[in-house]
Amino acid sequence: MKNNVYIETYGCQMNFADTELVMGILKSKGYKLAKDIDEANIILLNTCSIRDNAEQKIYSRLDHLKGVKKNNPDAVIGILGCMAERLRKNLIEEKKIVDLVVGPDEYRRLPEFIDLAYGGEKGIGVKLSRTETYDDIIPYREDGLSAWISVMRGCDKFCTYCVVPFTRGRERSRDLNSIVEEVKSLELRGFKEVTLLGQNVNSYSFEEKDFADLLASCAKAAPSMRIRFTTSHPQDLSDKLLNTIAEYENICNYIHLPVQSGSNRILELMNRTYTIEHYLNLIDKARKIIPNVSFSTDIIAGFPTETDEDHLATLEVMKKVRYDGAYMFKYSPREGTKAFQMKDDVADEIKTRRLNEIIDLQQKISWEINQSLIGKEETILIESLSKKSDEFYSGRTDSNKICIVPRNDSYNIGDYIKVRINRATSATLFGEPI
Ligand code: SAH
Ligand code: SF4
Ligand code: F3S
Repeated sequence: MKNNVYIETYGCQMNFADTELVMGILKSKGYKLAKDIDEANIILLNTCSIRDNAEQKIYSRLDHLKGVKKNNPDAVIGILGCMAERLRKNLIEEKKIVDLVVGPDEYRRLPEFIDLAYGGEKGIGVKLSRTETYDDIIPYREDGLSAWISVMRGCDKFCTYCVVPFTRGRERSRDLNSIVEEVKSLELRGFKEVTLLGQNVNSYSFEEKDFADLLASCAKAAPSMRIRFTTSHPQDLSDKLLNTIAEYENICNYIHLPVQSGSNRILELMNRTYTIEHYLNLIDKARKIIPNVSFSTDIIAGFPTETDEDHLATLEVMKKVRYDGAYMFKYSPREGTKAFQMKDDVADEIKTRRLNEIIDLQQKISWEINQSLIGKEETILIESLSKKSDEFYSGRTDSNKICIVPRNDSYNIGDYIKVRINRATSATLFGEPI
């Protein structure tokens, strides 16, 4: 019991990848992964700071964990991830139930902090590193079909609204050879898909190799796997990368390319370092080089000083690009960032209205794109039984859309099959095998 660890993960895929790293570190020291919080004596929350509501979720979770600690005063409660890095000792001072606070670059010391906590001492490890990539650590992964690998850590872009450069520190890339070896070993274990992760994968750099080289090496090393990647920054997406995506059958024709806003004035205030003209050119170029490429994006509504005209410009870009999908957020001021010094002057009702307009438009576009796929062929990876019925399987297309197909003895979970789409909603495709 004393060695049983339960981890809850919040935030982006990089945090989910980090949880696997943390479990790799703890397992090598004899800790066990508990499936259920009641079986654990060490409870860790791997947290996110990206918007205020992400942090509020953790505070209410901590309130709930007070009860756990009351029943079991010996339990160790720890905060990992971006909130640990951002709030540091404040977390321990304000939340009495927290025993340890460990930021993203200090996970190697976690066993040490757990020992301290068992000795009744509170531990804080929040130093950021310029070199830590956890390259030698084998992440603990359950068997499955899809895996993710962080190929770099940190971010140097300093978009003015964003906490990530402060919570994750400077950009650094992992050794290319060790990434390729990890991809190969995943293929041997039966994984069918891997997603290469970084805040801005396009600035990956290891010895003389760039991200296009890394993608090509992974695609060659594991020809039976689908290779995905995220996130691409519009400033650094090279022709070489586009050509590499086009060249390899098993690299998905799908690019997550956050635009954030359609207004050049706002983009400049955000320090995004590109103009809308540059962005739209990039989209055109990608469509020429990679037939059938699809895009998704992130959009922020209500950045300081955003006018209705700026907002209309965002809607305009969405209509021009016609994204397959979008993650859409209300601006949330983050202490310590440059934008925090600007007044958060767009009223919440206006932010909500603009966000809803953005969501409605995206839904309409997704619906139209999906309708246009009816009658077309797609290759899907069957991932699981459908949530709604055991008579159906749920799979994913190359462009990451969910596709439901009837269950049938001639194929199984983990197979790639060709289907023809016969029906679609804005979120789901339905197909028949061919
Ligand atoms: N590195 C990635 C992802 C960063 S976080 C990228 O650059 O795209 C994911 C998204 O959260 C961002 O793209 C942005 O749209 C959103 N985001 C970041 N900080 C935010 C803030 N303070 N308020 C609202 N949304 C924010
Ligand atoms: Fe944040 Fe910008 Fe870095 Fe993305 S690129 S993590 S939005 S600072
Ligand atoms: Fe959140 Fe940190 Fe990821 S702030 S979005 S968990 S990098």
